[in-house]
Amino acid sequence: MPQTLPLLGTPLSEAALRVMLLGAGELGKEVIIALQRLGAEVIAVDRYANAPGQQLAHRAHVIDMTDAQALRALVQAERPHLIVPEIEAIATQELLRIEAEGLAEVIPTARAAQLTMNREGIRRLAAEELGLPTSPYAFADSLQALRQAVDAGIGYPCVVKPVMSSSGKGQSVLRGPEDLQAAWDYAMAGGRVQLARVIVEGFVDFDYEITQLTVRAIDPANDEVSTYFCDPIGHLQVHGDYVESWQPQPMSALALQRSREVAGKVTQALGGRGIFGVELFVRGDEVWFSEVSPRPHDTGLVTLCSQRQSEFELHARAILGLPVDAGLREPGASAVIYGGVDARALRFEGVAQALAVPRSDLRLFGKPESYQRRRMGVALAAGDDVAQARERAAQVAAAVRPRAA
Ligand SMILES: Nc1ncnc2c1ncn2[C@@H]1O[C@H](COP(=O)(O)OP(=O)(O)O)[C@@H](O)[C@H]1O
Ligand SMILES: [Mg+2]
Repeated sequence: MPQTLPLLGTPLSEAALRVMLLGAGELGKEVIIALQRLGAEVIAVDRYANAPGQQLAHRAHVIDMTDAQALRALVQAERPHLIVPEIEAIATQELLRIEAEGLAEVIPTARAAQLTMNREGIRRLAAEELGLPTSPYAFADSLQALRQAVDAGIGYPCVVKPVMSSSGKGQSVLRGPEDLQAAWDYAMAGGRVQLARVIVEGFVDFDYEITQLTVRAIDPANDEVSTYFCDPIGHLQVHGDYVESWQPQPMSALALQRSREVAGKVTQALGGRGIFGVELFVRGDEVWFSEVSPRPHDTGLVTLCSQRQSEFELHARAILGLPVDAGLREPGASAVIYGGVDARALRFEGVAQALAVPRSDLRLFGKPESYQRRRMGVALAAGDDVAQARERAAQVAAAVRPRAA
């Protein structure tokens, strides 16, 4: 059992085990449900009111999580035992201080949150310190430096991304020098913070990409942190955003072994307890590390219908110091449901038809505002094999029709 963690107890009493989520979107919401089932007291923080997880947490706060002072003030007021980042855009420097002072335990570690919020931190750790295979890459602070880096060896096609961004924002694929200017401009407009820095990566012509969910949790046999691997999740990305995922992704034995070696190394280097989504590119038996989230991964929503314990339950158990079971129950698939409209509120038609699909399930996240490409829900389905599960998940997603209220 982690030293600093009290026993689980009665929420809203002096015996409560308090957990603060920084970010309370659809992934945080499922983590909150898993934590509350085990009787934890949960505080949900987000930058806008009525975020999905805030609608069910014991308490909710709206702050700018990149504001170090605001973050510290809230932690001091709430005194959580655990701080669980759900998003990247957080004042991670302050998390380091909070952790160092012993004010709260940061999941998995403050350093992991800091390294992964910037593509440079995690890429240098993975490629240069750990020696993991990655695409060739360089960093650039200007259009001119970008051009030089590509000419000096990255070549075309290549991918340009702001160092601080997620969900494919500001990211483009370059076919030739004529694409440089637009890629630079797009990266500058799409970055999360006004930081004029990009990573340029050689394009990896992979057969498929996977998320290797990896859990660091206490092994009850020896009370030490052990590493557990979920079955590989295959997924489809459109414009850098996941639209479909399935589990298990068929892989060669060697590619699977290499994926787990890479995932084991990078998660061990980040340390702490919790679930990690390790993104890997695979071609034949070859595996490249792409990036890692030290938290549940959006493509892992599929585990709500495919695993004995979803990635959210695994995360909750791991962070609470409890044993985990990362095993697959049956093949499953997920398909994203977009808002499709810009609207303050939605009504969903077709839900009954959707749930009439055999072995299907649905999550409607309850986000207080919809826009065309905002993820508003996810369709889930199990099947006898992945192909059947994918077909069913697609049917479920297609049946749900969001309408502006
Ligand atoms: N070097 C690359 N080669 C080929 N495809 C890439 C490369 N980098 C990113 N991609 C594609 O773009 C997607 C999003 O890129 P990623 O680095 O994961 O950004 P984000 O942090 O926004 O998820 C990847 O899942 C993959 O499909
Ligand atoms: Mg990614």
